[in-house]
Amino acid sequence: MTYAVRPRPRKVAGPRRGEVDRLGAVNEDPDIRPIDLLDPVQEPAARDWIEVHAAVQRELFGDRGSAWTLEEIRGFHRSPTGRRFALAAWSADRIVGALEVRMPTTDNLDLALVWLSVHPDHRKRGLGAALLREGESIAAAHGRGTLMGETEWAEGDTDEAEAFAARHGYAIGQTMIRSAMRLPADRAHLEALARSDDDYAVESFVDHIPEEWLDDRAVLQQRMSTDAPLDDLALEEEAWDAERVRESFARALESGRRFVESAARHLPTGRLVAFTTIAVSAGSPDLGYQQDTLVLREHRGHGLGLRLKAANALRVMDELPQVTSVRTWNAASNAHMLAVNRRLGYAVEGYSREWQKQTRGNE
Ligand SMILES: CC(C)(COP(=O)(O)OP(=O)(O)OC[C@H]1O[C@@H](n2cnc3c(N)ncnc32)[C@H](O)[C@@H]1OP(=O)(O)O)[C@@H](O)C(=O)NCCC(=O)NCCS
Repeated sequence: MTYAVRPRPRKVAGPRRGEVDRLGAVNEDPDIRPIDLLDPVQEPAARDWIEVHAAVQRELFGDRGSAWTLEEIRGFHRSPTGRRFALAAWSADRIVGALEVRMPTTDNLDLALVWLSVHPDHRKRGLGAALLREGESIAAAHGRGTLMGETEWAEGDTDEAEAFAARHGYAIGQTMIRSAMRLPADRAHLEALARSDDDYAVESFVDHIPEEWLDDRAVLQQRMSTDAPLDDLALEEEAWDAERVRESFARALESGRRFVESAARHLPTGRLVAFTTIAVSAGSPDLGYQQDTLVLREHRGHGLGLRLKAANALRVMDELPQVTSVRTWNAASNAHMLAVNRRLGYAVEGYSREWQKQTRGNE
């Protein structure tokens, strides 16, 4: 399925206005249209589309939401490693629902990830169901039989979207814990955790990954896709090479992201065997996102995860002193990483769930 660059309004097939569909929703005859986030002419609509996702984050987490900037999303839409489609649900002349469908093209060729938000003031009118239906038909048109989506909620709240996901045939694939560490943290404590006198040396970079790291980083990134707990998620190993690592850092930097990364070099072999990354978005310069952390299996048990994370936090304090907290998500089943995080001072803020639906056999 391809979408025209300047699409005309298009009605979604389904029950007539006022009818109750098979999911029990009264159909509002929603006006759903594709939107090209890369088209400069559609920029005001693209900003409204992002704003719907941001409104959901504010609803769930107040001023502690996680928001992508349009520049970051555009970077993803330009990436050669996946295809992305965006749809918007309109009410009068405003976008009130936003959906993205992402389909990896270098690995996980059966997978389609849906990112769905309906503005809190426009719920319970069938917009979510209509957007999801459209997203699922885009996935089907691309031969994707595994669908995934995410819900989130704050500590002390409940997952408001659980019933919606379950009603549409999605099952829980994984539950994640969201936690945060305040910065600056106790420097002496971090320095004690980061100290070492063994076969490993910690190296780090800010923003620009050294060329000579690329091959080892590709191996580590590929392992990351299988070695972090996947619980019930039907994810396959990702395919990484030096060029993909280079391209993904370059694209993210171009979109305004900054990076602080530390890695452990195994001195006897000269190889990088562990890494951890914190990214900072131009949209929230005081917030670090703790991204991947991995120690190769054969180098576990030396405390490298804790040491690297402590060293990287120190580097963030030195290089990006405007960062006042670092946010991370870990599988609830990932006891080792959660224990490391507790020692660093991370505190639980909320939860998220990855939902999945297999459509093969239902066709
Ligand atoms: C989950 C979400 C997308 C649902 O959006 P929505 O537009 O309210 O979705 P719908 O109107 O199609 O369905 C929501 C519920 O309203 C009910 N509903 C639909 N039309 C209705 C109507 N006219 N009157 C009363 N109820 C109605 C549906 O039956 C459904 O019930 P359920 O939650 O028990 O399944 C929205 O709450 C949201 O953006 N949440 C935060 C982001 C998120 O979690 N997204 C991921 C979803 S997998």
